[in-house]
Amino acid sequence: MAFPRSIAGALLLAAAAAGSAAAQTPSERQVRGWAASCAACHNTEGRSVGGFPALAGRNADDTYRALIEFQSGQRPAATIMHQHARGYTTDELRRIAEWFANVKPAR
Ligand code: HEC
Repeated sequence: MAFPRSIAGALLLAAAAAGSAAAQTPSERQVRGWAASCAACHNTEGRSVGGFPALAGRNADDTYRALIEFQSGQRPAATIMHQHARGYTTDELRRIAEWFANVKPAR
């Protein structure tokens, strides 16, 4: 049985709506989720105290610049920061940087 055109059209519209929703400003929760992937090394909310550089309270422009440099390979990473930065779009990195800038530092 052929798939009714009207339903196919509705599905396409729904898919388009979902796509444009994803392109909208990500929610605080979404950005927090991205930032959580950094906690394995930079500690919870980036409040690292020794070893890994702290991200909490760091100037957003500085964090963003570092991430972009890791992403482009301009800045050599001793470990995996370059790979980690490549997992995000520049817009996502910008939001992650801003999120960390708003966290109260550990000390
Ligand atoms: C597997 C461990 C690991 C994870 C996960 C990780 N980082 Fe890093 N990060 C490092 C290390 C180690 C360095 C020090 C530079 C280097 O050796 O690569 C670093 C350096 C940085 C720097 C530069 C700090 C400075 O002082 O110049 C920034 C900014 C940064 N990370 C942000 C992030 C963000 C944002 C995430 C999550 C999206 C993240 N990192 C996830 C290990 C990690």
